[in-house]
Amino acid sequence: MNEPPPGARATRERNAGAAPIRRAVLPAAGWGTRFLPATKAQPKEMLPLIDKPLIQYAVEEAVDSGIRHVTIVTGRGKDAIEGHFDVSGELETVLAERGRTDPLEEIRRISNMARVTYVRQRQALGLGHAIACARDAVGDEPFAVVLGDDVIDADVPCLAQMMAAYRALGCSIVAASEVPPSEVSRYGIVREGPADADDPRRARVEDVVEKPSPTEAPSNLAIIGRYILTPGIFAALEETPPGRGGEIQLTDAIRRLIETEPVYAYRFEGARYDAGDKLGFLKGTVELALKRDDLGAEFREYLESLKL
Ligand code: G1P
Repeated sequence: MNEPPPGARATRERNAGAAPIRRAVLPAAGWGTRFLPATKAQPKEMLPLIDKPLIQYAVEEAVDSGIRHVTIVTGRGKDAIEGHFDVSGELETVLAERGRTDPLEEIRRISNMARVTYVRQRQALGLGHAIACARDAVGDEPFAVVLGDDVIDADVPCLAQMMAAYRALGCSIVAASEVPPSEVSRYGIVREGPADADDPRRARVEDVVEKPSPTEAPSNLAIIGRYILTPGIFAALEETPPGRGGEIQLTDAIRRLIETEPVYAYRFEGARYDAGDKLGFLKGTVELALKRDDLGAEFREYLESLKL
């Protein structure tokens, strides 16, 4: 038998003992100010792309990646999210009486697909703070984070791609994608080392900066809202003071983490829509609608008729 290449052997050694990823944390306590007034009295996570709320896309991606435990970090005014994943006995009865089997199956599927639990972020003090609120739920295990604003349409779910990378590397991983230099100030920006010899989509993170100005930015490689984090992030978060916007930033905690553990960036495959932004939301709506079996053909005809 041929010897494995040295890189592969090193990977297996690094990976020895990497604990499985069993839980996804979904922060959902932000204000949604970019979508006012729609989000004045309803959570932004419940805005639908076509007919499915954003938070459901996030839960489905976790489930499709093999994760069964989902912890949603909620806050004031977010009750509709809990209702969405609850069993709705009355609605099920009405649909059953009317013989509406398709929607009945769909709403049953939603309440059964994952074990969803909730933790409360009592004050919206930032993404890092939201993750710290999930510490007791997560325990001493690596876990995934999915930000519902980033909807990713991919053949293999983005999180599943990252979990495969995690099995090889056994360390924290952030999803990454290049953005136009004019947009770097909207993201955590990565300075990466050389691409990994085993997989050029992976590169070690040498530094990260939250929402830098274009002149401060070390690159245009942005963190997109998917993370695999080791429990070491909680100790890092404890020491992280408020940063950009006066909020406790996850990016700042990752910057601390890389002082003690390797962190990798992973250039995922797939189309990503920033559904937290009006234009991104519109683009996602149009592109996902065009792919739908029940709507795509008619919608395409309609768009073509607009002769823009
Ligand atoms: C958050 C993170 C940022 C990351 C972005 C991805 O920012 O703080 O580092 O690049 O998500 O969408 P937010 O969009 O919540 O302002």
